Amino acid sequence: MKTYKIAAIPGDGIGTEVIAAGVEALQALAKREGAFAFKVDHFDWGSAYYKKHGRMMPADGRDQIRHHDAILFGSAGAPDVPDHITLWGLRLAICQPFDQYANVRPTRVLPGITSPLRKVEAKELDWVIVRENSEGEYAGVGGRVHQGSPLEAATDVSVFTRAGVERIMRFAFHLAQSRPRKLLTVVTKSNAQRHAMVMWDEIATEISAEFKDVNWDKMLVDAMTMRMVMRPETIDTVVATNLHADILSDLAAALAGSLGIAPTANLNPEKVYPSMFEPIHGSAFDIMGKGIANPIGTFWSAVMMLEHLGEVSAAGRLMNAIERVTSDARFHTPDLGGKARTAEVTAAVIDAIHGANA
Ligand code: IPM
Ligand code: MG
Repeated sequence: MKTYKIAAIPGDGIGTEVIAAGVEALQALAKREGAFAFKVDHFDWGSAYYKKHGRMMPADGRDQIRHHDAILFGSAGAPDVPDHITLWGLRLAICQPFDQYANVRPTRVLPGITSPLRKVEAKELDWVIVRENSEGEYAGVGGRVHQGSPLEAATDVSVFTRAGVERIMRFAFHLAQSRPRKLLTVVTKSNAQRHAMVMWDEIATEISAEFKDVNWDKMLVDAMTMRMVMRPETIDTVVATNLHADILSDLAAALAGSLGIAPTANLNPEKVYPSMFEPIHGSAFDIMGKGIANPIGTFWSAVMMLEHLGEVSAAGRLMNAIERVTSDARFHTPDLGGKARTAEVTAAVIDAIHGANA
């Protein structure tokens, strides 16, 4: 029997709670399927580790997870550690060296969940945002001089390489092509950002020639926020830079009902390195330890992990279980306006996994 080695990194805040729920659901699923097993190794990296050791993960941390089949990640961020340390010390320290350049963020209004957009029906909001995840505004290039003096200066330089833009465009066109509507929106800001974004647009046009059956259009990022709110039904697959997609995906999650539901996959499509799957909600320290974190974002991320591992029928079973649970308002956590607790939602999803017509 195939055993998948999963590296679980719960990280900070509610990460611990939702990853525990995710692992529980995955183990139940493996039992139900009977065709594969999970061996889950836990890593206690994050802000607590940082306070003890002065770094977010050990120096050889990546070597410890290099040969796992996938990484299940909770979140990184704590009120008393600067955000750039938690981000660069853990999440980016994994996804950049592991070349997880395609960050995929599906958004749907799941059954039983209400979008804040009036009258929007589930079928009108079914998107996938593809976020460039290796360079751009997150390249880490820049510097700071004369700190504390009136001459102080600081720069953050966006770096876009032709190779990096070509591969994310190709990935996005390919994903758009695999979806029923074959529709892609290329997000840009080539009016103000007149170098890299202009190259981004040119490369989009070049790559589009390889995908003649994909309908695509270009949209400036500011106008895109309006389109997402006013005409959600005109959108299907979206590709945007690291920072633009970071912002658009929070808006997307909110429009679909809650950030607590939104999943993400940090993919190394060539599978040279393990890919990483995580809910996008972050550490949410305000609700930490209360047992009310929404585990759905983690479960949906686990679905993406199963798809990546090629376990398509198990992925379908877990997604069905999720949708059955969200359609019952008794299992809505406070972020969805309900009273359910993490453990109740988890138990309901596990019940649905084992259920008769699951
Ligand atoms: C995300 C998050 C992260 C990001 C934060 C936590 C650093 O907002 O995954 O969208 O900006 O990449
Ligand atoms: Mg974000």
